[in-house]
Amino acid sequence: MKKVNLAVVGATGMVGRTFLKVLKEKNFPIDNLYLMASKRSAGTKLEYDGKEYIVEELTEHSFDKPIDIALFSAGGSTSEKFAPIAAAHGVIVVDNSAQWRQHPDVPLVVPEVNPEDISWNHGIIANPNCSTIQAVAVLKPLDDKYKIKRVVYSTYQAVSGAGVAGWNDLENGLKGEAPKKFPHPIAGNCLPHIDVFMENGYTKEEMKMIWETRKILHDPDLKVTATTVRVPVFSSHSESINVEFEKPIDDIEDVKKLLAAAPDVVLVDDPANNKYPLAIDAAGTDEVYVGRIRRDESVENGINLWVVADNIRKGAATNAVQIAEILAEAMDK
Ligand code: A2P
Repeated sequence: MKKVNLAVVGATGMVGRTFLKVLKEKNFPIDNLYLMASKRSAGTKLEYDGKEYIVEELTEHSFDKPIDIALFSAGGSTSEKFAPIAAAHGVIVVDNSAQWRQHPDVPLVVPEVNPEDISWNHGIIANPNCSTIQAVAVLKPLDDKYKIKRVVYSTYQAVSGAGVAGWNDLENGLKGEAPKKFPHPIAGNCLPHIDVFMENGYTKEEMKMIWETRKILHDPDLKVTATTVRVPVFSSHSESINVEFEKPIDDIEDVKKLLAAAPDVVLVDDPANNKYPLAIDAAGTDEVYVGRIRRDESVENGINLWVVADNIRKGAATNAVQIAEILAEAMDK
């Protein structure tokens, strides 16, 4: 693979630092690496592959130098302003924020699900929401075989999804301190409130799961509903997914076989031995774990699933780096 000039925007953040970890683990072919963040942390030293890099302030001139790919994870307003500037300089941006995900010119990609969408990018490719990524990785093979009719998501989301500040709220909350990031204590609590409330009574996180599932599965009319909940877990999101299909499922074992064979999906489904996906097992890994697979006996063609993945890795950094790998391979040709 050709070596590329790579920028990481938001390099000092929770996802930014994980980008660096995953890039190294995957031996991503880097020629020059540029680390960028806000003025606050310009000058900070970060290590990559045994070398020290100085974080530079992100400005309108940051992309004047030759950069092939930029991984962004610095919030929506930063992406809104700087992703188009980067794209105008010929950089391909893989953006982890929600800013561009619904834009018709921006592909929204999970490499195991819709890698073909990468090819029609116009300089910005969006990385989906962490909760959506792990869900669609499991739903795609089932949709291909049984055609999904309706999905009900209920999530149990880790505090790391709210960045360093979210992590600190749980850590300090366990010591009895008041929350700074969340509106209520997260230690010993569940908050049915992730991102802002919208006019329809849903939170934005819930609507992201609905909109993004439709876009990634190429089914704009798919019936999807969601309740997203922040729970006192540091790493990995867990999700209960109830799915109804158009076609009958003759044998539930078939569903298990399909999921066991799905790319980067691991079947952990042995309830007799207390084996099912757990947040603490998924943390630090790149796979999506699925278990508790059973029929929904209240409907004709329905099943229930329990899906767990590391929200910072597969839910953010790993997914973005996988997209960058596909881009780097294409640049080679
Ligand atoms: P900084 O360290 O300068 O604040 P997290 O969500 O884990 O808190 O991380 C957010 C990341 O986004 C950090 O790297 C942060 O940099 C970066 N960031 C936030 N605002 C900006 C901005 N206006 N320009 C560039 N980077 C930003």
